[in-house]
Amino acid sequence: MSKKPLILGIESSCDETAASLITESEQGLPIVLSNIVSSQVEIHKDFGGVVPELAARSHIEKIDLIVQKAISESGRKINEIDAIACTAGPGLIVCLSVGLSFAKTFASIINKPFIAVNHLEGHALSPKINSLLDYPYLLLLISGGHSQYLDVQNLGKYKRLGTTIDDALGEAFDKTAKLLGVEFPGGPQIEILAKQGNPEKYDLPKPIFNKGGCNLSFAGLKTAVLKIAKNIETEQEKFDLAASFQKTIEKILSKKTKIAFEQFEKNKTLKKKVFVVAGGVAANKKIRSMLIKLCEEKNYESIFPPIDLCGDNAAMIGMVGLERFKLKQFNDLDYPAKPRWPLDEKASFLKGAGVKL
Ligand code: KG4
Ligand code: ZN
Repeated sequence: MSKKPLILGIESSCDETAASLITESEQGLPIVLSNIVSSQVEIHKDFGGVVPELAARSHIEKIDLIVQKAISESGRKINEIDAIACTAGPGLIVCLSVGLSFAKTFASIINKPFIAVNHLEGHALSPKINSLLDYPYLLLLISGGHSQYLDVQNLGKYKRLGTTIDDALGEAFDKTAKLLGVEFPGGPQIEILAKQGNPEKYDLPKPIFNKGGCNLSFAGLKTAVLKIAKNIETEQEKFDLAASFQKTIEKILSKKTKIAFEQFEKNKTLKKKVFVVAGGVAANKKIRSMLIKLCEEKNYESIFPPIDLCGDNAAMIGMVGLERFKLKQFNDLDYPAKPRWPLDEKASFLKGAGVKL
């Protein structure tokens, strides 16, 4: 039996301190030995968003403990670890720096390679932990900071097909939740409120629905929700607004995904058409079922990470580390934290307020 790589993954780009040990089976399938995530929701909830200094302080307080826990739960020893993979961006620089300093120090003490991981690549590869997934595939990445359609051509090789020109989808969910008086992060709560409401009650705008290819925009939708939310008087109206918002998002994603399918298939001979949805918002069950149905209609295989791997975690960072380790793609210890680090470095910066790439 050959010795399989054992990777320690570390994540601290935003408000989750996370560590994971990951290896693979004789057949080359990933095995997550431990996956510890410590969320800071309680720390930030009164502020309605993540406060960078508080987040960094909490990472500093917890990182040793979380890594120790990940190692002890894995049943493996420190000296068995073959490499340390850590998120180097994109994210909050003060938060990234905590994980990075820890990972580099750890790597140099145990004298093992260090791998700097793009957080978005972690989300992109997260479904590989539980599914057999070959390149190329079409990815819809929907999280608190990003909303993009990407042609995933290979490890580290991405072509952006579309992106939001203003807010990210998770941000739109969180802002809508705040307007409805729901605590941060409100995305999951909107889904729950929506179940009790009438999705046809409010006719909300669908920005750039009929233009801009598979680019996305949610700022106008948020403004419309703001205006309606001001005049809401009953609990039922609140449920109806949540349901109408959820329904509008489904309509936008359905239309834009069809356009992304066409762009992805252009000039390609594909043995199999695969659509992957990842990032925090991929946990939304209504969005999942709508996209699964669309894939059935359009002859695509749909792949989602398990719900617990949709949000930020270190198993997905370890997953990238595992692939990079096998290709001996290591990084020097002076690798910087990169607050902005698009997966497709060649994609142009789209005009618009608060553009996220
Ligand atoms: O990927 P993630 O954990 O962190 C980032 O990298 O941003 O995504 C967090 C986002 C938050 O905006 C959260 O409200 C949203 O994902 N989210 C959801 C759901 N679960 C998490 N949005 C809609 N429906 C959900 N069920
Ligand atoms: Zn994320």
